[in-house]
Formats: sequence, structure tokens, C-alpha cells
Amino acid sequence: MTGTTVKDEGQVRPMATMPPRVPLLSMKQITKSFNAVEALVGVDFEVHAHEVVALVGDNGAGKSTLAKIVSGVLTPDSGIVEIDGEPVSITSPSAAHALGVATVFQDLALCDNLDVTANLFLGRELTRGGSGLKDGEMEQTTKRILQDLNSPIPSVKTELRALSAGQRQSVAIARTLIGNPRIVVLDEPTAALSVAQTAEVLTHIERLRELGLGVILISHNMVDVRAVSDRIEVLRHGRNNGSFDAGTASYESILAAITGATKYTQGGDRRYG
Ligand SMILES: Nc1ncnc2c1ncn2[C@@H]1O[C@H](COP(=O)(O)OP(=O)(O)O)[C@@H](O)[C@H]1O
Ligand SMILES: [Mg+2]
Repeated sequence: MTGTTVKDEGQVRPMATMPPRVPLLSMKQITKSFNAVEALVGVDFEVHAHEVVALVGDNGAGKSTLAKIVSGVLTPDSGIVEIDGEPVSITSPSAAHALGVATVFQDLALCDNLDVTANLFLGRELTRGGSGLKDGEMEQTTKRILQDLNSPIPSVKTELRALSAGQRQSVAIARTLIGNPRIVVLDEPTAALSVAQTAEVLTHIERLRELGLGVILISHNMVDVRAVSDRIEVLRHGRNNGSFDAGTASYESILAAITGATKYTQGGDRRYG
């Protein structure tokens, strides 16, 4: 096969006529209210394998609510969620895990008094059927995952309290890779980090894409978002308000969608920038 043709059911035809790929995750017309607060109203969202999609918007736009629906922490009032084109109900975090969705929430939920390996396997320890834990195996897996992420954490036996905020974020991201997920959701992973630590986390995100995962990156930081994502989806007041190609969209056009200076009209041209 050459670089410019693909084989499909015996047919060889140019790449340009390939059918659209089925998204890894597709959310259609998702609505979620908390009593009188409409957190999400008819939101559409998609992520493909090998793709980083940034979810941006002002405080209260609905970003974390959407992340919690993907993670099974919240269930939508209405709308359809599909994985590989098949409708799914993500009714709990364990259901999300079983469907290949892993999430790093803003609080990280790590244990300071435990080492890196123990944090990766927290609650999911590998046991030897009653005769203790498979420490060696867990350490090897931890080392491999940190290598996969290009993480420079010196030892997997280091207690979390000795790590920097950036290294802790690395551990939280590494933890998501236990169980070979296909979709990783990161809620504000760089919010509390220095410039150097942020660069490290962005490298991990690029590695997740190279490993073939679909990544949902929630962030306030337009520099980060434009550096690492393929596509930028804007939420405003719980509604889609723009979809941008991260490589070409201007900062001003993204900002205008976030602040509401430009409005996305359903059925209109969603791509501007
Ligand atoms: N558990 C909750 N109970 C009531 N209101 C909530 C709850 N979670 C979120 N909200 C409200 O939903 C809206 C969207 O919140 P959120 O998804 O956290 O926004 P973002 O992450 O974009 O800042 C906000 O108005 C917020 O106050
Ligand atoms: Mg949030």
C-alpha cells in the first residue's frame, strides 16, 4: 500500500474520499440541570483517537459538568453518549472505567504518605491471591508507564509529599493509564503549575495522543490549549459556542467565543477562526 491510497473492502481509492471516522466518544444534545441552574443545554462534543480536544470557557460554562458526565460522576438529564458509535450509559465511575474512560479531576486525589507506585495502584492493587501484593510487578508497570509518558520522576519509591506540583500531576496522569484506557479527561491539569512544570505536563498530553488515546483537556490557559490541542471547543453558559482548529484559529476569535462577542448558531457554520 502506498501513502496516498487506502484499501477498503478490496477497493483501493484515494485518501481524500475516505468516509468520516467514527469518533471514539460522541456526545449529542447533552442537557444537565441542577435545580434551576442549566449547567448544559443541548451540548454536542466529539473526540477521536489520536486527538486532543480542548474544552474551554469561562467559569461556570459547564466544562466540569461535561467532564463529570464522561466520567460517570453525573448522569445527563437527556442526550446520547456513544463510544465507537454505540450508545452507552456511563452510570458510575466504575462503568466509565470499564468503558475505557479515565479522568484526572482538579483535586488529583493522591495520597501524600504513599509512594508513586502505591498511588498508581491505589484501590486497584495487584494481589497474589491472599499472599500479599505483587510489588515487583506493580513497580515495573509504574516504571513503564512513566517512561511512556516521558516523565522524569527519579524513583517510583518516592513518597508523593517529596514531589513537586508538576510531578504530582504526572503521577495523576500516569495513574489514568492503569487499565489501558482509550479516553483520558484532564480537568485543569496546569492550573496550579509553574511554566516549567506546565511544559512537562503538556509533554505528557502529547504522549497520550501518540499512544493513540483521545484526550479531553479542560483549561483556562489559551497558550497551553493552543500549544497542545488539535481542536478547541468553546462552551458558554452551558451551550456550544464555537469549534476551532487549534492550528489556525486566532487567539482573538477563540476569546470572542468565550466571552460571547461572537455567537455560535446551531446548524450554521460551526468552524470559524
Ligand atoms: N453540584 C452542583 N450543584 C448545583 N450547581 C452546580 C453543581 N455543579 C455545577 N453547578 C453549576 O453548573 C454550572 C456549570 O458549572 P461547571 O460545570 O462547574 O462549570 P466550569 O467547570 O465550566 O467552571 C455553574 O453555574 C455551577 O454553579
Ligand atoms: Mg470546572
